[in-house]
Amino acid sequence: MTEKPRVLSGMQPSADSLHLGNYLGALRPWVQSQDSQENFFFIPDLHALTAGNYDPKVLAERTRTTVAQYIAGGIDVEKSTLFVQSHVPEHAELMWVLSCLTGFGEASRMTQFKDKSAKGGADAANVGLFTYPILMAADILLYQPNFVPVGDDQKQHVELTRDLAQRFNSRFGEVFTVPQPSIPASGARVYDLQNPTAKMSKSAESPNGRIDILDSDKVIAKRIKSAVTDDGSEVRFDRASKPGVSSLMDIYAAVTGKSLSAIEEEFAGKMYGHLKVAVAEAVVAEVAPIRERAQELLADPAELDRMLAVGRDKARAVASATLTSVYDAAGLLPSR
Ligand code: TRP
Repeated sequence: MTEKPRVLSGMQPSADSLHLGNYLGALRPWVQSQDSQENFFFIPDLHALTAGNYDPKVLAERTRTTVAQYIAGGIDVEKSTLFVQSHVPEHAELMWVLSCLTGFGEASRMTQFKDKSAKGGADAANVGLFTYPILMAADILLYQPNFVPVGDDQKQHVELTRDLAQRFNSRFGEVFTVPQPSIPASGARVYDLQNPTAKMSKSAESPNGRIDILDSDKVIAKRIKSAVTDDGSEVRFDRASKPGVSSLMDIYAAVTGKSLSAIEEEFAGKMYGHLKVAVAEAVVAEVAPIRERAQELLADPAELDRMLAVGRDKARAVASATLTSVYDAAGLLPSR
């Protein structure tokens, strides 16, 4: 029997709702991989504290809503390990050990810190933002994953994680699996409806280019119907000269499973408006049940807490075993 690869990833609770890009690009492929991989997925709420001026109520709310959407979207808490970072104290504990292995200059080279601290002015950055990549290394190494799917902006942090794992292993003995960064599971790329050459994003200037999973059917349909389209009238896939129509076709293909050429055939002789109606219907049919299920879960905090406790217990079993080996190897006296 071959072992399934172990995969770990996290997504910050920094929006009120997942958008269609998060769903088609990350959540859905993640759900589909639950039988072929051993998945650990967590909400890095400790990382969210690095935004110094965050609102605590909003953070707690977003953490809950994010979890609810993951479960509603098909994450099975028995198959995958889904948990909240702050529920597993080993993250902060391992981070300390790793901090003592990280060079000051090494941490200073992290480009995301440089970008973020430059934007807010040097005084606006806190030490947590500086050590954030070391917390991320702890998040990863505690679970001994083989792969860590991350976007380009996080690759450097995974490289640091690998360096720290190798450094620890060669100094204190083989404790850590050295993980590989991997391209996120092959999900669909979803573009902004108002600016179809940019990826759909929670930080876009206008929410009108975005489809949020928790939006009402009406809002979703309205956003799709006011998506920008291109010159001409033919429904044809051509990312360079027809980015608007191509983006709508991408969404339609991802949601319905139809091929782009089948979609061109379906809309031969029809107009952009017909495509928009079909896309709106297909998207609503896909996300409305997820929204409803998420709302049910949010209305039943005891059930959501129960599922989070399942995830926490599974996560802690792995994390505490790793931390015990780390402490032992690093010369910290066992507490008996
Ligand atoms: N830093 C990641 C982001 O902002 C989130 C994150 C925290 C993460 N810890 C992680 C991702 C561990 C993968 C693995 O997107």
